[in-house]
Amino acid sequence: MEARVTAHAHYTISDIDKRLYGSFLEHLGRAVYTGIYEPDHPTADDSGMRKDVIDLVRELDTPICRYPGGNFVSAYNWEDGIGPKDERPVRLDLAWRTLESNQVGIHEFADWAEKAGTEMMLALNLGSRGLDEARAFVEYVNHPGGSYWSDLRKKNGRADPWGVKLWCLGNEMDGPWQVGHKSAAEYGHLANETAKALRGFDKSLELVVCGSSHSKMPTYPQWEATVLEETYDQVDYISLHMYFENYEKNTAEYLALPETLDRYIGTVSGVIDFIKGKKRSKKDVKISFDEWNVWYHERESDAKRMAEWNWPHAPVLLEDIYNFEDVLQVGCILNTFIRRSDVVRIACIAQLVNVIAPIMTAPGGAAWKQTIYHPFHLASRFGRGTALRLDVDCPTYDADAAAGVSYLDIAGVHDGDAGTLTFFAINRNGTEPMEVSLGLERFGDARTVEHTLIKHDDLEATNTMEAPDNVAPVKGEGAKIDGGDLKLTLPPYSYSMIRVSL
Ligand code: AHR
Repeated sequence: MEARVTAHAHYTISDIDKRLYGSFLEHLGRAVYTGIYEPDHPTADDSGMRKDVIDLVRELDTPICRYPGGNFVSAYNWEDGIGPKDERPVRLDLAWRTLESNQVGIHEFADWAEKAGTEMMLALNLGSRGLDEARAFVEYVNHPGGSYWSDLRKKNGRADPWGVKLWCLGNEMDGPWQVGHKSAAEYGHLANETAKALRGFDKSLELVVCGSSHSKMPTYPQWEATVLEETYDQVDYISLHMYFENYEKNTAEYLALPETLDRYIGTVSGVIDFIKGKKRSKKDVKISFDEWNVWYHERESDAKRMAEWNWPHAPVLLEDIYNFEDVLQVGCILNTFIRRSDVVRIACIAQLVNVIAPIMTAPGGAAWKQTIYHPFHLASRFGRGTALRLDVDCPTYDADAAAGVSYLDIAGVHDGDAGTLTFFAINRNGTEPMEVSLGLERFGDARTVEHTLIKHDDLEATNTMEAPDNVAPVKGEGAKIDGGDLKLTLPPYSYSMIRVSL
């Protein structure tokens, strides 16, 4: 199979906001407790944070981390997580039917985020609570001092405000499963009033309003239209979520799903433009795709266990073990975000540790990289710069999710400062190698080519604590510059990153 691709220095999509490679950590299962925080662990630092996990997060280079939920936030009292640890209340977490010890709260998370080299993106509870608690929390986190909440923060050991810019106005408020679920009109009104109050405190905050929990929600995309009609002037981003599943074990269908992601982004982008036009507004609202990942491996058994258990603390929950097939999927998802980086400015892989996550830990034991760590890591490190509008000519296949799915999924990024071109390419064909000829127009002379390959003969291959490198990047063979074209072969079902220095 052959593919002809053209990249041209003048055909660009957008600069990429580095926050496209954000992440998410929720008080859920073992994400926090025995994930990032385990005071008895051999690598724990003075604050009880696992250094082995911090090292893996630092390597991942994720610029923002959304916290503390997720569904959890919609019945969370942020005040429970401040002050002396032995005085913090144990609460029932209604979202996941577990006990919340509150041993980690905003101070601990903020310290961890600093150590892990990531900025905080904080979510407000607009489910069981509302405007008043939201404004108190923002004051606690961001006001220098001299007011009730900011002085309480000082008393609790943090003199300087954290200066968090990005705030989510609730989580998945369209979902009937959400504590405090609302209609679009109710939520839009509350979000707008909350945003106005927060802007009264600081106009420069970046505010994210809830869009749909996924594109199959019955209220989508009218939800976006109603919510934006209420909030357009006050918000900067609308949040979207999507999780990918392969219950049927049909790889061709599974790998076609990012086409539905592309349509979802396109539709919401259209709704944003519609409301902007209707309001005669000059302002832009962009998309924050702040939950995305593969999530299905353990989903059904988790739901059964959850229904039966008796409020455990930090149980095993949503611990999907990812395989090689998921590497291809995550690669295609990230490519979709790069190709839509003009409108998707922020995206967060959900989640970061243990819970549908690229990083796994054993309590008291090792931390290791799941298979999907690798495509995320490569995109996060090298997918920064300007997204290129590539012309792709390649055979296609028809799937239920979409017709005309290109066997080659590719995205390109030009980093002018580093003098590099980076291409992320997935061969969605499971039987034939793909001969790629990639024309490089107006970039000047290409000097060197590096090919990084992720390939495994078994689509179901996983990484485990005992075999953490079973699925991992290796050096690819045979990529070369030939008469101004980049030429290489992509093996069947494979993920590649190709870097060209100019
Ligand atoms: O990431 C797991 C859950 O998925 C989050 O809590 C929720 O926002 C979404 O439904």
